[in-house]
Amino acid sequence: MSAIDEIKARANVIDLISRYTPLKRAGSIYKGLCPFHNERTPSFVVYPNSGTWHCFGSCGTGGDVFSFLMRKENLDFREALERLAQETGVSLEEQEQEQDRTQKAALYEVNEAAARYFHDLLLHHAQAAPARAYLERRNLDAMTADSFQIGFSLDQWSGLRDYLSSRGFGLDIQLAAGLVKRNEQRESIYDAFRNRVTIPIRDRQGRVIGFGGRVLDDSQPKYLNTAETALFHKSHVVFGIDRAQTAIRDADQVVIVEGYMDVIAAHQHGFENVVACMGTALTPEQLRQLQRYTHNFVLALDADAAGQAATIRGLNQARQSLTRVSKPVLSPGGRVQMMERLDATLRIISMPDGMDPDDVVRRDPALWQQLVARALPLVDFYFAVTSRRVDLGSAQGKAEAVAELAPLIAEVDDEVERQHYVHQLARLVQVEEFIIESRVRAAARATQSEAAAERKSSGLSEGERIDRPSTGAPVAESGKSDKRLSGQPAIEVEDHLLAMMVRSPDSLIWLAQRAAELKIEPPTDADLQHAENQEIFGALRRFIMSDELWDLESFQENLARPLHAKLGSLVAYGAALPPRTDPELREGMIKDIVHLRLQRLKNESVAIKYLVDEAQRSGEVASARSLGSVYGRIQRELDHLQPLKLRENHKNGDRRRNASTTRLG
Ligand code: UTP
Ligand code: MN
Repeated sequence: MSAIDEIKARANVIDLISRYTPLKRAGSIYKGLCPFHNERTPSFVVYPNSGTWHCFGSCGTGGDVFSFLMRKENLDFREALERLAQETGVSLEEQEQEQDRTQKAALYEVNEAAARYFHDLLLHHAQAAPARAYLERRNLDAMTADSFQIGFSLDQWSGLRDYLSSRGFGLDIQLAAGLVKRNEQRESIYDAFRNRVTIPIRDRQGRVIGFGGRVLDDSQPKYLNTAETALFHKSHVVFGIDRAQTAIRDADQVVIVEGYMDVIAAHQHGFENVVACMGTALTPEQLRQLQRYTHNFVLALDADAAGQAATIRGLNQARQSLTRVSKPVLSPGGRVQMMERLDATLRIISMPDGMDPDDVVRRDPALWQQLVARALPLVDFYFAVTSRRVDLGSAQGKAEAVAELAPLIAEVDDEVERQHYVHQLARLVQVEEFIIESRVRAAARATQSEAAAERKSSGLSEGERIDRPSTGAPVAESGKSDKRLSGQPAIEVEDHLLAMMVRSPDSLIWLAQRAAELKIEPPTDADLQHAENQEIFGALRRFIMSDELWDLESFQENLARPLHAKLGSLVAYGAALPPRTDPELREGMIKDIVHLRLQRLKNESVAIKYLVDEAQRSGEVASARSLGSVYGRIQRELDHLQPLKLRENHKNGDRRRNASTTRLG
């Protein structure tokens, strides 16, 4: 049994959740007030047998012990795993992991020592006098310099190296931390930062993972940053997150700026919910980290970048990578559906001409506050930029405005919002609305086929398309694949489904399309019960949406180490399955999804029936009614899915063994 499974077997879901909300036994389930939202009558259910939970109220979410802790304590999967491992006494120590951890600990330590060394030089060394004067000119006060541990690196080739060596740090670890570099020709090892103001970069927990070093004059490059190391991944770094997290949570808003100095100045002036994205375009990885603390992002763009269509599109796409929440919506046909919505707002401020946030904050803190308060939603912002830039009186200007704004509108995934912008654009350029609508649709199609073409040229789907000589067996027969699977361990449906996805990642795109045709939700986290599977699924989805080429190894790197074993067993399982043609494989996946949903909905239906009865009995009319409508929704979903199952079965036969199976990994 893997550590993850062992923890699940040992952790008591009732005990765990009871720490946050009292649970009452109700037959084979437990119920209580949902710990994630305010409510007066219970709509939160825990299933001790499967170790899972579900909220039937406004959250509409559920999961297992890991996902519960992740949500409740703002942890990532690895952190939740470590916490529960400790509580249940399950050991996560595999040898490799141990080595990994020792290496990382040493890296933190050497970075910490370097930060202290640089800081000390800045304060006391004669050679640092120009650096001290520089910081003073920039109005950085001593307290701020102290708390950020700003430092200075001497204009020497081995100042840091000699210091660290004298403190017992080997050259290996100095190299691995990117603090010194190797010159192959001269066979020498020299300091990476020389004659620069140094700014320690810290992770969420305040540990130094790298440095930015600024020159004191106008020479180039202005900043040097630590190269990629085991700790430092530039595209993941959110500068200032260690000191901003509390303020971000309190304000329920984060302001993202571009530069180190902007963050430092903002904090010095008491604006503590400010972080920086290291000057690069905001990455999905950065947004996801910030999403732990808030869903409200305000981005301060400098006037240049703010005018760029590419910047805005990039942002919008990064935004798409954020977690979605399921919300019930009414379809045009009157059916209540759970729809996935982005649970995030991204608003933009552009700085007054020629000013950095650094300048604004220093010269006019009140203006900063105003700018933040008046940040515009992404699309509105771009409307404003475009209408300022093009001449809306001319035919060409109008065409230009539509060409720029239509693709952005096409990416708005809320129908009501999208319609709002269509209307707005029609008014802006004074053109009939249906014309704008058709442009928006065309833009949506273009983006889709672009993405498909890219994937195709990357060889993603081709690699998976294994055309097997036909056995002549009718499709319905091939479904009786227990025989074909013999030698394979019997596994849960959700493991099987995920293995298929890992084997053919681009199937996610096809599945989304197919789901739309069948009028069902595309695959979501909610289809999976196990947090480790949700984790892998989430990573898979992000990978597909990123521009990176599919490659199992780099995919694995993005996963927490304890998930590697699970991924490995999924891959092994998937590889050992008989080759199938894509359509067959994919129809099988749809069938799995329908199967999982039916199973889940049936369970939910039992629990909610109970809650409704209970509410009625105790005279809670309002909550009986609202739970009743959830019950109705579940029944309608069941009614919608049931025929699909029959159809799929009829088509493919049922290769599925039932639930009394052991799990993978
Ligand atoms: P800026 O040039 O806006 O930096 O680049 P800044 O922080 O405002 O710098 P000052 O005010 O001139 O001191 C924004 C960010 O881009 C990255 C750094 O993270 C910087 O803070 N950057 C910029 C580099 O990594 N290298 C560079 O050469 C320039
Ligand atoms: Mn600046």
